[in-house]
Amino acid sequence: MYLLLYLLLKLQLFFIYVSPSLSSMTELDTLMAIKDSLDPENHVLMSWTPHVDPCSGAFEGVACNEQGLVANISLQGKGLSGTIPEAIASLKSLTGLYLHFNALNGMLPKEIASLTELSDLYLNVNNLSGDIPREIGNMSNLEVLQLCYNKFSGSIPTELGNLRKPSVLALQYNRLSSAIPASLGELGTLTRLDLSFNNLFGPIPVTLANAPKLESLDVRNNSLSGSVPEALKRLKDGFQYINNAALCGIEFAELDSCIAVASSDPTKPEPYEPKIEPKSVKPESKNCSETNCEKPSESSKIGIIFGVIGVLVGCIVFGFSVFLWYRGRKQKVESNAEISDSTVSIGQIKERKISCPLINLEYSNGWDPLAKGRSGYSQEVLESFMFNLEEVERATQCFSEVNLLAKGSFSAIFRGILRDGSIVVVKCIAKTRCKSDETEFLKGLKTMISLKHENLVRLRGFCCSKGRGECFLIYEFASNGSLSQYLDLKRGDYKVLEWSTRVSIINGIAKGIGYLHENKETKKALVHQNISAEKVLLDTRYNSILADSGLHKLLADDVVFSTLKASAAMGYLAPEYATTGRLNEKSDIYAFGVIVFQLLTGKHNISQLNLQQVETDNFKEILDENLEGKFSESEAEKLWSIALLCTHESLNLRPSMNNVMQELSTE
Ligand SMILES: *[C@@H]1O[C@H](CO)[C@@H](O)[C@H](O)[C@H]1NC(C)=O
Ligand SMILES: *[C@@H]1O[C@H](CO)[C@@H](O)[C@H](O)[C@H]1NC(C)=O
Ligand SMILES: *[C@@H]1O[C@H](CO)[C@@H](O)[C@H](O)[C@H]1NC(C)=O
Ligand SMILES: *[C@@H]1O[C@H](CO)[C@@H](O)[C@H](O)[C@H]1NC(C)=O
Ligand SMILES: *[C@@H]1O[C@H](CO)[C@@H](O)[C@H](O)[C@H]1NC(C)=O
Repeated sequence: MYLLLYLLLKLQLFFIYVSPSLSSMTELDTLMAIKDSLDPENHVLMSWTPHVDPCSGAFEGVACNEQGLVANISLQGKGLSGTIPEAIASLKSLTGLYLHFNALNGMLPKEIASLTELSDLYLNVNNLSGDIPREIGNMSNLEVLQLCYNKFSGSIPTELGNLRKPSVLALQYNRLSSAIPASLGELGTLTRLDLSFNNLFGPIPVTLANAPKLESLDVRNNSLSGSVPEALKRLKDGFQYINNAALCGIEFAELDSCIAVASSDPTKPEPYEPKIEPKSVKPESKNCSETNCEKPSESSKIGIIFGVIGVLVGCIVFGFSVFLWYRGRKQKVESNAEISDSTVSIGQIKERKISCPLINLEYSNGWDPLAKGRSGYSQEVLESFMFNLEEVERATQCFSEVNLLAKGSFSAIFRGILRDGSIVVVKCIAKTRCKSDETEFLKGLKTMISLKHENLVRLRGFCCSKGRGECFLIYEFASNGSLSQYLDLKRGDYKVLEWSTRVSIINGIAKGIGYLHENKETKKALVHQNISAEKVLLDTRYNSILADSGLHKLLADDVVFSTLKASAAMGYLAPEYATTGRLNEKSDIYAFGVIVFQLLTGKHNISQLNLQQVETDNFKEILDENLEGKFSESEAEKLWSIALLCTHESLNLRPSMNNVMQELSTE
């Protein structure tokens, strides 16, 4: 009896507990299905678990409305590598879906169009392919559609012209090949339309020029032809059109007039006067100064808002100054063959040099590290490294938290997209953490600029902002992250590196370090001082590239000291540092040996393994089990002995990197 009562009570409690969110319980199933699809390996959405109320705040990135229904899903930049499921269409109250900056594959399901409340759809910078579903035209509340930087192909659906409230359509950097639908001109609310870097052909529809709120239209790098509607002149710099096969027009600076084409072209625009006053269409200059790299905003709300604004600015507005930039950069492109191919050969642009706004670069009065004649470098070399603050802010969307990759003790690292579309990493360092002595700082910077090797992360640019009190180093982006992400993996993890990859990573690091130690530029060995699995980055093809070479030369002594302490804690610091307080090439060799051990064992923490005691003939027992026996015994043995030598207690007995490389290259 009591038992029954007890059970009833329990049951009731259970219902009391469950009932307020009963509606969201059905959404729970949907969310679990979404999770399985977005994150099939369950690496990211670990917090999405059954038997938990998704509206309780426990589900990462899920926000509910007052009715207890899912309103927003914000999972930007999380490394999601799955696909977007049809199931998402069941979240009827969804207003915002933010899945940008991930690695999502597959198609965009047409079912998404049944989300009639959805106003913000951010899928930019993923790997989505297939057609853009025409059903999207049914989404009556859609305001922002961000599909840029994907692999969408096919045509731009004419149905997009049925949208009721769109303000931003960003479709740039896809593989769309169709004409531009004239229906887009009927979008009375549209302010920005970016179609650049696709394979669009045909004319720019006259109707588009009639869209009353349009401020920005970017059609660069397509195959458009025909006569440009004169009315687009009202957009001034908001209209970007270079690199199209056969556009012509009157009074557009970069276009020939259309004598021959116009007569045969049925799409020839009528003479047209804009009904509205031409508006000033200066790009919104966002005030970035409220964030800085020492303290990026902690709140995820702000992160989302910044994300939204930032992506708007980044994805759409960044086109605004590309034209100016191309003009400004052209000479740099010519003088620096290393800048990525995509920026080269911007033909037929008039030479008009826009001088780099040095005001953004100055560090303090008379403290402009890259000012003319100060560094001993030719102006061309320096210019190719100079970025202005605006470029850095735009690339990182005003240092939006969305783009924050890591935050260390003295720097913050952001991902960014440059205007040529290349992805970079921006490292920002507070001025107070830099060397205060100008000459020394300059020397350091010169050294860093001089480093060029395929196994070192390439420094693409540099900028100091007096206003923000920060310096920025712009590096190439390594798409496969750092080596440390490939250690301590569970059995069967898809990240487990194959044997041959491990060997080539070791070879690459050795070459990179070898280059630093044999530095021909400075004729003096450059000691890296901070080699670790974190600093070994992997590019698209898993080539290893070493990060932060020479960085210590820019940093204040106490900052360098604290990085050494961190490196000691992780076991990379050679023992002699404790006694001599100095580092030389042999300390880099030590750290290299540690990394070789890490690659062989698959483990971060090798100090417990007591490696020097492991007999050479039974080292195989502590090789990474994840290799599942698939390795070359002779190579493994060789690497093992190299690692042992490199981590020798006595620095005199450690080999030089030259010796190591010789050893590695012998059969
Ligand atoms: C969803 O996101 C939008 C835009 O960031 C925001 O205005 C709204 O308050 C969010 N809704 C909830 C329930 O968090
Ligand atoms: C992107 O998708 C294509 C198929 O469309 C696939 O072959 C490729 O591996 C994907 N890339 C990444 C990085 O997921
Ligand atoms: C949605 O769009 C498709 C194709 O554009 C159309 O056939 C269908 O009738 C639309 N559905 C609704 C509910 O409007
Ligand atoms: C843009 O077009 C120019 C000229 O056709 C071409 O050289 C360049 O590679 C294109 N850029 C990109 C990123 O496709
Ligand atoms: C940006 O914000 C800073 C600090 O809040 C302020 O001093 C500065 O005037 C602002 N600049 C602009 C362009 O709004």
